[in-house]
Amino acid sequence: MDYNNIFDAHAHYDDAWFDEDRFKLLDNIQSKGVCGIVNNAVDLKTAQTCIEYAEKYDFMYAAVGFHPENLNDMPSDYLNRLAAISKHKKVVAIGETGLDYHWDIPRDMQKKVFEKQIKLSLELNLPLIVHDREAHGDTMDLLLKYRPKALIHCFSGSVEMMKEAVKLGMYISLGGAVTFKNARRVIDVAREVPIDRLLLETDAPYMAPVPFRGKRCDSSMILHTAEKIAEIRNMETQRLLDITAENARRFFNIN
Ligand code: NI
Repeated sequence: MDYNNIFDAHAHYDDAWFDEDRFKLLDNIQSKGVCGIVNNAVDLKTAQTCIEYAEKYDFMYAAVGFHPENLNDMPSDYLNRLAAISKHKKVVAIGETGLDYHWDIPRDMQKKVFEKQIKLSLELNLPLIVHDREAHGDTMDLLLKYRPKALIHCFSGSVEMMKEAVKLGMYISLGGAVTFKNARRVIDVAREVPIDRLLLETDAPYMAPVPFRGKRCDSSMILHTAEKIAEIRNMETQRLLDITAENARRFFNIN
């Protein structure tokens, strides 16, 4: 089945997994129905790379920020430098940033850097892309405190948390995990999330949906995630792709 209007709200095409054929892949990706990709930085170096790709491809946009796993060797003026590069016309969000309690990274430092980036997104009037891994409580506390325009990417919380986030005006993005076995919680979220707050993503090169689980993921594989969510919601896959692409353009202020 051929689909179009595939908008990938979260990818990492700077990852070394793409080194062999990155530009060949991206040169052809529109022919597979992909209409938009937001490439997410994890630090200042990848932010530059994300901007380079966004300059090269009309359909690519950049999010710039510090991922909680990339807080070592941050320059002391990191926030000013982030603010400066975010002025680029293809930068559509601050991110990805957030909290990751899966890894043993000092939580105080994570919270401090996340909080600063939340405030920066408010100052710059840019949306925020949030990474929340096993840190639902602290993530929601900070989002409640500042109420940024946020997207919780690869959402892994409960239906209750999703409802709380939606009430605050936030968006939810779902990826390949919805196709995995034992994905009951995320399937419940996929069923319950208001359709106008749902975005689709890959987190490429990771999190490839079934039947590609464990393999390198690219944005065209979203169709498998979309087919699964459309089935859960009892709707046409193309309609889901159309609506989620429109949501992405609204969230990221892309015309
Ligand atoms: Ni990511």
